[in-house]
Amino acid sequence: MSIDSSRRKKLSEGKTKKIYATDNPHKIIIHYKDSLTALDGLKNIFLQNKGILNNEITTFIFKFLNSYGIKTHFIRKINEREQLCHKVEIIPLEFVVRNIVSGSMSRRLGIREGTPIKNTIFEIFYKNDVLKDPWINHHHAVFLNIISYEELNKINRIVSRTNDILRKYFLDKNIILVDFKIEFGKDQTKKILLSDEISPDTCRLWDKKTMTKLDKDKFRSGCNEEVILNTYMEIFKRLNENSS
Ligand code: TMP
Ligand code: ASP
Repeated sequence: MSIDSSRRKKLSEGKTKKIYATDNPHKIIIHYKDSLTALDGLKNIFLQNKGILNNEITTFIFKFLNSYGIKTHFIRKINEREQLCHKVEIIPLEFVVRNIVSGSMSRRLGIREGTPIKNTIFEIFYKNDVLKDPWINHHHAVFLNIISYEELNKINRIVSRTNDILRKYFLDKNIILVDFKIEFGKDQTKKILLSDEISPDTCRLWDKKTMTKLDKDKFRSGCNEEVILNTYMEIFKRLNENSS
């Protein structure tokens, strides 16, 4: 596998990650950038070392999920900013799980942030920039020819299990997993793999004792760069502390 960065072919570049080809057509390198975005890229800053932290945190979480039999695209961390992953075709759906009311659910339904949810809520959003990622249900997803009911059933089981595993995992580190978003892709054999990233960019994480926000909401609410970076660092530290 070629990991010589000067000779790599870039396959794509998103708001926070770059994807490079390797000499194996079924494997890619994901490079985590030092950028932080929100509101569909309208809010966008350079945040030194954020890419390193999100690479570390996602690596940690994907390894942990792998150890529970959750199949992910992650193969191994290559260096501080990069991972080797299975190449997948991303299914254009965002799967959101909510354990506590926050964010768009709070706004949409007029329910106070922090309200506990007894029956875990599962939502689907259609990844489509033009339409601004609308909220849809599984019938829409099938109608749009994005996915079959069988595949959705399979993914829903993985989503629910991922929530069970991660909720407990974070709680052991005195962190409440309020909500999160995950994505899936299909490899060359059409196998469904949990893909993309799981990090403070894609989760809401609250400190159990103080209920302080330890995630991208710090950026959304206008905190300065040092505060945001320290927040991501805190998550990294806690994941490392209780392990080994
Ligand atoms: P929401 O409350 O804004 O709908 O977000 C729910 C969760 O999903 C939250 O943890 C943030 C995450 N999320 C993303 O990672 N990317 C997105 O584009 C959106 C809308 C949410
Ligand atoms: N869709 C938003 C984004 O562009 C979600 C957010 O506010 O994080 O990142």
